[in-house]
Amino acid sequence: MDYRNALVTGASSGIGRGLAAWLAKRGVKVWAAARRLENLEQLKAEASDLIVPMKLDCAKGEATEAAVRALDAECGGLDLVVANAGVAVENKPKRLDWKAIENMLQVNVIGATATLCGALPGMLQRNRGHLVGISSIAAFGGLPRLGGYAGTKAYLMTFLQGLRLDLKGTGVIVSSIHPGYVKSEMTSTHKKAPPFLMETDDAVETIGAAIYRGAESVVFPWQMSLGMRTLASLPRPLYEAAARKLR
Ligand SMILES: NC(=O)c1ccc[n+]([C@@H]2O[C@H](COP(=O)([O-])OP(=O)(O)OC[C@H]3O[C@@H](n4cnc5c(N)ncnc54)[C@H](OP(=O)(O)O)[C@@H]3O)[C@@H](O)[C@H]2O)c1
Repeated sequence: MDYRNALVTGASSGIGRGLAAWLAKRGVKVWAAARRLENLEQLKAEASDLIVPMKLDCAKGEATEAAVRALDAECGGLDLVVANAGVAVENKPKRLDWKAIENMLQVNVIGATATLCGALPGMLQRNRGHLVGISSIAAFGGLPRLGGYAGTKAYLMTFLQGLRLDLKGTGVIVSSIHPGYVKSEMTSTHKKAPPFLMETDDAVETIGAAIYRGAESVVFPWQMSLGMRTLASLPRPLYEAAARKLR
């Protein structure tokens, strides 16, 4: 697809920031959305005048849907929408922090869904568009201390798959992206480097290329993909015995 107008949420750092710059470098006008407007202004100054900073709190579902719908109408139509904004909350083995989990559900589930919902009507009217969700390799099974995070990413993966089935033949395509560990603010708090940690630019290149070829689902890096898919294919007791050792 020849992209002219794109929206990338969670563009103030990490993968979203890199992807917004990557798209702008290819001549796409990119609305870069997040709460930290100063980071987005800096991105525009450093990367390209094709970046348009957009203040957006994805935790607010209704406002997010309305903002994306309004942007689609005002900009003459979004060709590409990347629901990337996300947070990862680890729980202690026997303690759940409801407030933190609630925020994660609001951003990763409500926010991502509202972003895609806001973009769909215009795309359907034009018979043209690309919806992308940044899920995770964690979507393929429950993980110790990451049950909530893995659950939000499994939701996004399943939602995108259903959407892809519904939208076949409409001209609107749907991609589900499943990165392993990528350097970003999200992974910067890890005490030890996680396995197969990717440079942000390498992950952005993989995601950008997947978007441009209209890939339905991409899981990377291959080592994590192979490991997680193998684990997920095991009978549940074996999966749980192996997954318990992952941390
Ligand atoms: N890094 C990894 O290893 C990894 C692996 C698999 C999947 N992912 C997924 O990739 C996506 C990007 O993560 P990242 O690694 O690049 O992390 P990051 O550097 O922490 O970036 C997260 C982005 O989400 C935005 N965000 C958080 N809460 C928001 C809210 N309420 N409203 C709007 N934006 C919000 C942040 O912007 P503000 O704080 O400025 O609002 C920031 O731009 C996430 O969906 C994550 O789950 C990451």
